[in-house]
Amino acid sequence: AAHMGADLEKVLITEEEIHAKLEELAGLVRERYEGQDLLLVGVLKGAVMVMADLMRALPYSVPVDWMAVSSYGSGTKSSGVVRILKDLDTDITDRHVLIVEDIIDSGLTLSWIKANLESRSPASVEICTLLRKPDAAKVDVDVQWVGFDIPNEFVVGYGLDYAERYRGLRVVGTLAPHVYS
Ligand code: PRP
Ligand code: MN
Ligand code: MG
Repeated sequence: AAHMGADLEKVLITEEEIHAKLEELAGLVRERYEGQDLLLVGVLKGAVMVMADLMRALPYSVPVDWMAVSSYGSGTKSSGVVRILKDLDTDITDRHVLIVEDIIDSGLTLSWIKANLESRSPASVEICTLLRKPDAAKVDVDVQWVGFDIPNEFVVGYGLDYAERYRGLRVVGTLAPHVYS
């Protein structure tokens, strides 16, 4: 197969911009949770890159857990149906939870996950997402930290996939039309 970067139409966010933003977000997370019992919760699979870089940008070690939910098929549109494929291994009662996500698109996935975690009596539940598409919102999600607001275009890279591919791209970008045909 050709180099995966060759399938990009344009780069929206560069590797350097992503890393600078995560350093900034890590600083805010550090301030907010100073001296508190924090658990980072990543949403598989898209959040793996954000989680890997955010946790390494934090100066102290923070426990991490993962949830896997399904809301998209293999295509580019949200079905709005959320199912837990893998639940947390951790009891979050009385703990501060920070959900780490790659993108908020319609908002359906995260509003569901946030409500689900809030029902487990945690000390707090906040959200940190690298990307958000304000023009795609179907529900309002209360988000503490957003890296970048982006236009309502289908994007891949840095954890985001198209049919499970392109997650390994170091940039966030849009795909060339030939990829879809
Ligand atoms: C993508 C993305 C978010 C969600 C956002 O995940 O990683 O989790 O969709 O969409 P929404 O705001 O419209 O709900 P996806 O379901 O594609 O699974 P993946 O992370 O395994 O790619
Ligand atoms: Mn996801
Ligand atoms: Mg996906």
